[in-house]
Amino acid sequence: MARTLIAAGNWKMHKTSQEASVYAEAFLNSVGNFRQVEIIVCPPFTSLPLLSQKLAASPVKLGAQNMHWETKGAFTGEIAPAMIKEFRCDYVILGHSERRHIFRETSQEVGQKVQTALNWGISPILCVGETLEEREKGKTESVVAEQLLQGVDAVPLDKASHLVIAYEPVWAIGTGKAATPADAEEVIGFIREKLSQKFNRDVAQKIRILYGGSVTPENVFEFVVKPEIDGTLVGGASLDPGKFWKIVEETYRASQNK
Ligand code: 13P
Repeated sequence: MARTLIAAGNWKMHKTSQEASVYAEAFLNSVGNFRQVEIIVCPPFTSLPLLSQKLAASPVKLGAQNMHWETKGAFTGEIAPAMIKEFRCDYVILGHSERRHIFRETSQEVGQKVQTALNWGISPILCVGETLEEREKGKTESVVAEQLLQGVDAVPLDKASHLVIAYEPVWAIGTGKAATPADAEEVIGFIREKLSQKFNRDVAQKIRILYGGSVTPENVFEFVVKPEIDGTLVGGASLDPGKFWKIVEETYRASQNK
């Protein structure tokens, strides 16, 4: 079954809204009406109002980088689902390794967020991935399975196909040392197998599973040409509109070769 490939950019804590505006103009010049790859930009919250206007007439979709599991209340510094939905976010990154490791988010909290996002019609991009130490100890599958299964624990079968999973090995993020496409394909195949056991085979075949970690215009093709890999979640290289557009183009080229 052909799944629409995704090129998603995670800007992390980069760009003021003014810088985002300059980016959007350059990027939209390249994108035009291109719809063969699903393009998602995930800026900081402060750029969502401006980008939701600038991108409204384009095929580029918006995602937030985090969200709280409650819908409102006394949660100083947090963002509610309605607040990101208001600015046209179809997606939200949840459980990114920086949230798990720097901000100590647990898999259980991430699972609550996934459930809330789906209730609000926002597709979670649920991130999972092992550290270098875990990989070296042969724990990749157990760590990924724990993060994945707790993350999707409360997801009902009828909403599961809206999930997007991103496999991002922690040691590959921001290091310039990407996983090999073969290793990424193997773990992503394992993730799909787990999803198949949790939901069913049909649903698991519909869920897009991305690779993230030092993706560049030069290496993206080798990842997305693999049968199980449905696109990429890109950090550093997505900050440059020219590089991110090249990643979109390479993703499309790979889709023609799958
Ligand atoms: P880099 O592409 O900078 O390695 O970041 C990957 C990432 O964390 C995307 O969410």
